[in-house]
Amino acid sequence: MNPIVVQAQVAFEQGFSGEPDVLVQAPGRVNLIGEHTDYNAGFVFPAAIDRWVVFAARKREDGRAVIRSVAHEDEISFGVNEPLEPEKNWGDYAKGVVREFQKLGESLGGFDAVLVGDVPVGAGLSSSAAVEMAVGKGILELNGLDMSGPDLALLGQRAENQFVGVNCGIMDQFVSANARAGHALFLDCRDLSFEQVPLTKEGVRIVICNSGVTRGLTNSAYNDRRSSCENGAEHMALATGQDIQALRDVTLDMLDVYRGALSETVLRRCRHVIAEIERTRKAVDLLKAGDLEGFGGLMADSHASLRDDYEVSGKELDLLVEIAQDVPGVYGARRTGAGFGGCTVNLVREEAVEDLVAAMESRYEKETHLKPEMYICTAVNGAECVQ
Ligand code: GLA
Repeated sequence: MNPIVVQAQVAFEQGFSGEPDVLVQAPGRVNLIGEHTDYNAGFVFPAAIDRWVVFAARKREDGRAVIRSVAHEDEISFGVNEPLEPEKNWGDYAKGVVREFQKLGESLGGFDAVLVGDVPVGAGLSSSAAVEMAVGKGILELNGLDMSGPDLALLGQRAENQFVGVNCGIMDQFVSANARAGHALFLDCRDLSFEQVPLTKEGVRIVICNSGVTRGLTNSAYNDRRSSCENGAEHMALATGQDIQALRDVTLDMLDVYRGALSETVLRRCRHVIAEIERTRKAVDLLKAGDLEGFGGLMADSHASLRDDYEVSGKELDLLVEIAQDVPGVYGARRTGAGFGGCTVNLVREEAVEDLVAAMESRYEKETHLKPEMYICTAVNGAECVQ
């Protein structure tokens, strides 16, 4: 059994005595390509990884929720059918999800619960989406409710947008809820249609390198990038007179013709998004055709575009990518997630994994005095009940 599930059972027993009724595991994710495209109605291509948040819970009769976080050594308690306000702490992700169920008119039962996880926090691997999906699925289970994976993902995104106050897109919650083991998920963020694409090519591994730099300033910079994209789409609609709802509706040719309608910064932001949407579509075709070199080349282009045009990389992430690109057997490397700090994702031939780890440990540490953490990943299922 997943060791995090065992840890959750033990923590539950210690905190509340007895056994939980419900155990849900929800994974973190790594995005292979398609960065900062989800809130532009574009495509993304993430996979769920074998790092989870586990929610272990048991009903209680007084309508209160008592939730303990093992990582924070802290507990929150609130009435599940009472008005809820954010408190700017870890508990907001769970409370925000409860708040969304309230808005749907559900009358919920109370519960005791623990949250345990091994998705690194602040590393761009979506620990918060994993909390939302674990709590969301747990609440469905505790209350005998039914909801599709896509709807649960949308509920989690609303919790994060409206309660936590981060204006994120749909990618993280969607993959945490709907992924399939051994596959990456090709998602059209405009209509939420998706395809599970096998990652079964023998002898290829996904390796994540954690730069050890936690994401400072992310929320404001993230929201700032989003506004630039919305600004770009609005100006392009005015300039072209066409029905442009999002940057998905703009081509690089159109951007070039009407470049005068945009500020220099907005132009660069839009160029990244439009090129990245196209790259993601192409990358998925290449992967399906077994062309890993081609896929890796597009990962490199994605990184350069995020570094130069979207400006969401950082010197540590650039260095991790540079080191990986020098290791024979690495097909591709790029920074993944919102950016500024966090992780890179590498597509690596199995026999080159050791060389990659060795190169990171010697060069990265020497140049930054930071210790990179490496995770050799397996693509796993989305949120599921394990009891
Ligand atoms: C964060 C957000 C996602 C997505 C990525 C960037 O992870 O939560 O919605 O926008 O950044 O691709």
